[in-house]
Amino acid sequence: MAIGPMILNGSEFQSNAISVRESMTSKLQVLSQELRMHRGAVSDREALEILILYVTNHCNMKCEHCFFADNLNDGTTDLPPERAKRIFDSIPRIREEIAITGGEPILHRKLPELVRNIHDAECSRDIQINTNGWYVDRTLEYAKDIKQWNRKRISFQISLDGLEETHDRIRGLEGSFQRAMETAENLKSLSHYSEPGFFTPVFLMVINSQNYREVRPLAEFLFREFGLFLAIELVRGTQFSVWNVPEGMLEDDFNPPSLELPPESEWDSIYEDLRALNREWGYPFRHFATKMKYQFEMLRTQKRVVRCAAPSGVTPVVYANGDVATCEFAKPFANLNEFGDDFSALWNSDRARQNRAALTGCHCTHACFLVPSLRRDLGKNFKLLVDL
Ligand SMILES: C[S@@+](CC[C@H](N)C(=O)[O-])C[C@H]1O[C@@H](n2cnc3c(N)ncnc32)[C@H](O)[C@@H]1O
Ligand code: SF4
Ligand code: SF4
Repeated sequence: MAIGPMILNGSEFQSNAISVRESMTSKLQVLSQELRMHRGAVSDREALEILILYVTNHCNMKCEHCFFADNLNDGTTDLPPERAKRIFDSIPRIREEIAITGGEPILHRKLPELVRNIHDAECSRDIQINTNGWYVDRTLEYAKDIKQWNRKRISFQISLDGLEETHDRIRGLEGSFQRAMETAENLKSLSHYSEPGFFTPVFLMVINSQNYREVRPLAEFLFREFGLFLAIELVRGTQFSVWNVPEGMLEDDFNPPSLELPPESEWDSIYEDLRALNREWGYPFRHFATKMKYQFEMLRTQKRVVRCAAPSGVTPVVYANGDVATCEFAKPFANLNEFGDDFSALWNSDRARQNRAALTGCHCTHACFLVPSLRRDLGKNFKLLVDL
């Protein structure tokens, strides 16, 4: 997704361990990249920015923090590839990325066919497949299949919730970390670094009260082993991460039963550590650091710090059963069945507009929506980047 880290290989990383003078240059490069992205976002208002696509509710894990836990293995049928084709053929433009998620997408029996249908659609841009990394052989088999016809940037995002012991405990399955590493190795062996993003794994860590001390050790480990950066997100729950969603519109309650936010007394040092990592390594964590600063500010003050992009209609969420929502915190408001799987007809309907209009007053810490929101607010984004 647009929030993914810059992808560098080992030798690029060497040159990215930077001096103070180089750091100034890196920062200027970052600012000019952000300016380009800002221009793209505001000049192409009709395009979707990211689309989050749930392809299955099946999962082999039951992670302690999972916001989707109540929907897992609930009997919902996986999204059929032909249906994905109809949906994506009806979308005019996606500017950034399609994030394929679930449940565990690798459990989808026809994942390569489904991904191909999305890849072949006119609107399609980068595709990211989220995975827990457990299914080593099947992921390799799927990736090899995809590699034969792929012409776009496709990456696998592997979840890592800390170093081995912590990760396995949170994920509830011994061996999860080792398997995720094997999956990452396999994907790395398929990637061509001359074409960044092609199978290069992206790692995502969701920070919570049990693992926040392991951000730096995990980031350093991944640099050493893969020459890759770690994406970072903050654990969220409906009771502590979202405010002012109108009555009846908030997703069903999900609050990690035993995994909470890191203690407030640690928030500043978590941010400072991210800031230090950015300076040391050439700003690969800039999106995570800037959004985290605002996430902590929102959590402290419970006030809105940036206007959310989701009600502008740029970040739809499509579930495996065809339900559609304006964002992941809002309940779905329609099903594609009602519109013959024509996404544009649904998205431009009065119901969709009313749903979006009703969500203009809320705020939350959800990163998938915070990053596009910051991108549109050049002043706030630049302020944070310059401070980094
Ligand atoms: C829902 S999972 C689906 C894909 C795959 N099963 C996996 O675990 O990567 C997608 C991402 O959401 C993250 N996630 C789950 N619960 C969360 C929560 N309460 N707050 C923030 N992220 C969460 C997971 O750690 C994972 O990285
Ligand atoms: S593997 Fe992914 S979908 Fe499954 S429980 Fe864990 S976070 Fe949730
Ligand atoms: S993503 Fe945006 S619209 Fe959705 S709950 Fe958060 S602030 Fe509201």
